[in-house]
Amino acid sequence: MIQHCPTPTELDDLELLVSGAYAPLTRFNEPGSVVTLDLPDGATEAELVDPEGLPLARVAADGSLEPLTHAQYGPFRRLHLTPAQAREQHAGATFVPVVDALSEADLEELRGLGRVVFVALMGTGTSSLSPVALVRATLAAADLLDKAAVVAVPLPAHGDAEADHALGAQVVRTYAGDDPVHALTDPSAGRAQDLPAAIAAIVDEDQPAPEEQGLVLFFTGLSGSGKSTLARALMDLLLEQGGRTVTSLDGDVVRRHLSAGLTFSKADRETNIRRIGWVAAEIARHGGVAVCSPIAPFAETREQVQAMVEAAGGAFFLVHVATPLEECERRDRKGLYAKARAGEIPEFTGISSPYEEPVDPAVRVDTTGRTIEDALDDVLVALDEAGYLHLRGTDG
Ligand code: ADX
Repeated sequence: MIQHCPTPTELDDLELLVSGAYAPLTRFNEPGSVVTLDLPDGATEAELVDPEGLPLARVAADGSLEPLTHAQYGPFRRLHLTPAQAREQHAGATFVPVVDALSEADLEELRGLGRVVFVALMGTGTSSLSPVALVRATLAAADLLDKAAVVAVPLPAHGDAEADHALGAQVVRTYAGDDPVHALTDPSAGRAQDLPAAIAAIVDEDQPAPEEQGLVLFFTGLSGSGKSTLARALMDLLLEQGGRTVTSLDGDVVRRHLSAGLTFSKADRETNIRRIGWVAAEIARHGGVAVCSPIAPFAETREQVQAMVEAAGGAFFLVHVATPLEECERRDRKGLYAKARAGEIPEFTGISSPYEEPVDPAVRVDTTGRTIEDALDDVLVALDEAGYLHLRGTDG
């Protein structure tokens, strides 16, 4: 039987199927249900493992599950009660679903309801806050009410608002059992204007302003297009200004270290770019700036990098250095185009290997006949307008 690590959404669903939160639903891929599982390469059954490889459950061809171990780690794991545990520990309370930071008005509405249990619906994509911040903000809200507790329920979004709403209501009802459910009148209406200070601080930390957010500047283009030169010049400006940590992930440099030994086959190029994306996402997670400048010829791989960065809370800014092939080949600073034309370098981008132009980059620069400063200015204007970095005029 194959081992398979499901997506974050599928892992959330797995936990809720096994805990009884989705009752009467107990298996994946029930016809008409949004709770689905995709197995790779036509497999019909599998051992499902968490990202660290711990076996969680076996799934059979009909989607039914045999639990093996419970996920044991992760922040606030102790708050992940099953419906049965929640009903036992909190019998007689009022159950309140929470998907956002609670405002003063929300708290006011709950005073006088007696004992309250917040059901923090913190699964992948359900809240605009990160899962851990939603739980932290909900704990802060519980502190501000007299008698309140928090249960964390990883209800994920499945991309179907209506179905997700119905599923969420049903899950909260299952947690409440015979006790009342109180849905807030106007959830998230108080966002930003009316948050208690302790909760506002948690939201601010989770959702930094654009100029404080982790940022991945991704330059893509042909060899010799000017990617590295532009990236280098931008890094220098950032370092001169100070205030941000900056890491360069240049194509040629990465291939000497992180990706040493990889070839220029399609598969190896994809691996190379995904490695760059993985590191860049970690840099963004810590609020830093990563400046990447590989060729990155494949649109799908660039999109994977964007997804990794955004999942880590970073902003992704794609710069297409669109200097045409004729100009790159005319420059031929490394003499590689001549060798590629002579057949000495196989699979050379633009000659014997494809380059898929980005359809919708944040900015496109052709460096033909322009100075570095001039071409860089186009990038700085776009960054400035997007609100991420304000570097214009710092060099003069
Ligand atoms: S990528 O396709 O995987 O993104 P990457 O940016 O890491 O490429 O490496 C590109 C650099 O490797 C080029 O600037 C060039 O100096 C060198 N190179 C060597 N062989 C090739 C090749 N076949 N195609 C493109 N670049 C190559």
